[in-house]
Amino acid sequence: MIISAIAAVAENGVIGKDGQLPWSLPDDMKFFQRTTLNHHVISGRKNYEGIPDRFRPLRDRVNLVVTRDQDYKAPGATVCHSLDAALEVARNAQVKEVFIIGGGQLYKEAIDRNLINRLYLTTVHGKPAGDVFFPEIGKGWKEVWSEKHKADERHKYAFTFAVLQK
Ligand SMILES: NC(=O)c1ccc[n+]([C@@H]2O[C@H](COP(=O)([O-])OP(=O)(O)OC[C@H]3O[C@@H](n4cnc5c(N)ncnc54)[C@H](OP(=O)(O)O)[C@@H]3O)[C@@H](O)[C@H]2O)c1
Repeated sequence: MIISAIAAVAENGVIGKDGQLPWSLPDDMKFFQRTTLNHHVISGRKNYEGIPDRFRPLRDRVNLVVTRDQDYKAPGATVCHSLDAALEVARNAQVKEVFIIGGGQLYKEAIDRNLINRLYLTTVHGKPAGDVFFPEIGKGWKEVWSEKHKADERHKYAFTFAVLQK
């Protein structure tokens, strides 16, 4: 099984602010939708709660929410009590690829434990203020695809999509 992470990261490493994304980048959201549709997605509890109610659970995906709270309920999603337990759910479903969709704590555990084979990384060309950061990804990644997107009236920042593989 390919274990992927998908994230949008500013040039200063910021990925989140006050439980939300620090920006509105509709075409990056579309990329996220397109890439993760019909897949299993694994989210930390805080990221999951930051998704607006009307978009939760993320439609046409199997939503796995990771929390240490044994009583946690997330209607329409599957609650898991560790990252490994969530990966096991995907493995048991015999999926080819599973997506870790954040936030900071989940990305850090997955990267630090060297679990990620593929990274869908949107670099946001700006340095917004924030309180959650993407971890250092280390060496050994090869960029296999990239595409630039200019800033415009709907996108305050320019950004670059890339797919990196181990
Ligand atoms: N830019 C992007 O691409 C992107 C993507 C996703 C999220 N974000 C942003 O990131 C921020 C949220 O990130 P965050 O780091 O604060 O939180 P998070 O990683 O979304 O969630 C953390 C929570 O997940 C649970 N958890 C984490 N590791 C666990 C483990 N090994 N076992 C069991 N439970 C575990 C715990 O839940 P309990 O406390 O319930 O036990 C923990 O408090 C938000 O601002 C969000 O908008 C940005």
